[in-house]
Amino acid sequence: MKKTLQNMKVTNKTVIVRVDYNVPILNGKILDDSKIIETLETINYLISENCKIILLSHLGKIKTEADKLKYSLEPVAKHLKDLVNSEVYFTKDIMSPDLKKRVSELKPQEILMLENTRFADLPKPLESTCDAQLSLFWSSLADVFVNDAFASAHRAHASNYGIAKYIPSCIGFLMQKELFSLNKLVINPEHPFVVVMGGAKMDDKIELMENLIKKCDYLLCAGGIANTCLKALDFGVGQSIVSKDFRIIDKLKKMMLENKEKFVLPLDAIVGSTYDENYVKYKRIDTIDDNDLIQDIGVKTLEKYQKVISSAKTIFLNGTLGMYENPKFANGTKEFFNMLSKTDAIVVVGGGDTSSAVKNLGYQNQFTYVSSGGGATLDYLGKEKLIALDVIEEGETIETLDL
Ligand code: 3PG
Repeated sequence: MKKTLQNMKVTNKTVIVRVDYNVPILNGKILDDSKIIETLETINYLISENCKIILLSHLGKIKTEADKLKYSLEPVAKHLKDLVNSEVYFTKDIMSPDLKKRVSELKPQEILMLENTRFADLPKPLESTCDAQLSLFWSSLADVFVNDAFASAHRAHASNYGIAKYIPSCIGFLMQKELFSLNKLVINPEHPFVVVMGGAKMDDKIELMENLIKKCDYLLCAGGIANTCLKALDFGVGQSIVSKDFRIIDKLKKMMLENKEKFVLPLDAIVGSTYDENYVKYKRIDTIDDNDLIQDIGVKTLEKYQKVISSAKTIFLNGTLGMYENPKFANGTKEFFNMLSKTDAIVVVGGGDTSSAVKNLGYQNQFTYVSSGGGATLDYLGKEKLIALDVIEEGETIETLDL
C-alpha cells in the first residue's frame, strides 16, 4: 500500500490536497455531493492536526473559454462551507505570485479552494500535460501533498502526478479505502468470485474483462457486453448495441472459448424496436428479430443469474442489466440489485454509470463498497495500477480497514 496520512507528519503544516470534486452541478446547485462527502474524513483529519489546507480539483472538460463559464468550482466551495466546521475560502487564482501571498495569510484549520485546475489548460495545456513549471508552482505552496482524488488517479496531470514529484506526498483516506476494497478483488478475492458486467459500452472494458476472467469463477454478462458475446457466437441481436470493432469481437470470442465454463449469458430478453417506441416484447434469446433492440434481461435470465450469485462469496458489479432509465426496461436491473442486496457476499460496485444507477435506485447503502471512480476503477482493476500513484512512495501494508 502507498504511504498514507497515518505514515506522515502533518501537524501544523500547510497541506495541499488533490480531491475529485468533478460533481454534477445545475444552476449553481450540486446535484450529487457524494464525492465531496467522501473526502471529509481527510479534510477533518487535517483540520484536527491544525493544518492550513489548500484544495485542488478539476471539474468537467475545459476545451474553450466558454467551458470556463460552465465549470467554475465556486459553487462547490460554497457547498463545502456547509459541510465543515472551518472557514472555506475560494480563489479564482490558480497560478500567480498573489496566490502565494494569499496562502501565506491562511490561518491554521482554514481551507482555501483554488479554481478548477483544468483552467490551466487554456490557452496552452499545462495541467493535462503535467507541465513542470505548474507542478513546481503548486508544490511550492505547501509542505505536504495528499492525493485523495481516486477518481482522477488514472490521469498523470500536474495537480496529481506533478506535485507529488516535488514535495513529501501520501494518499488520503478515500484513496486508501478505494485501493483497499478494490485490492480485495484483484489480489485476493474470496471464492466463488462472480463478476457481473453490463451497461452499454463494450470497447473500453475489454482489458478489464481480460484481467478479471483470470481471477473470477463466473462472469455474468448483460447489456452491450452480452450482446457482443451473443453476436460473436453467431446469435442474431437485431439492432441491439454491440461492439463494431472486429479486434474486440475476436478477443472476446477467444476469451469465451478459453473460459467456456466461466461465461454466463442471457437466456431471454425484453426487446424494443427501431420502428415503434411503444413496442415492448418478451423474447427467448434465440428468437431476436432484425429490428429488435435488446433492452433488458428476462425472468429466465434472472433465475439463472440468481443461482450463480447465491453461492458467491465476492461479487463485483460493473454496468446495469438493461436500460433502467426507461421504466419499461428497468425490471432486470432492479430485481438483480435486489438479489444482490440479499446475498451475504462482499459486493463491490465500480464504474461511474453503475455507481449512479446504484444511487438512483436507492441501493447505495446496501452493498459493501460503492467506488467513487469511473475510469479510474476500471483502469485499476484492468491494469492493477494507477499512474498518478507511481510517484508516491510505498508505506506500511494496511491489513484491515472498516468499510
Ligand atoms: C470522473 O468523473 O470519472 C473523474 O472525475 C475523471 O474525469 P475525467 O474523465 O474528465 O478525467
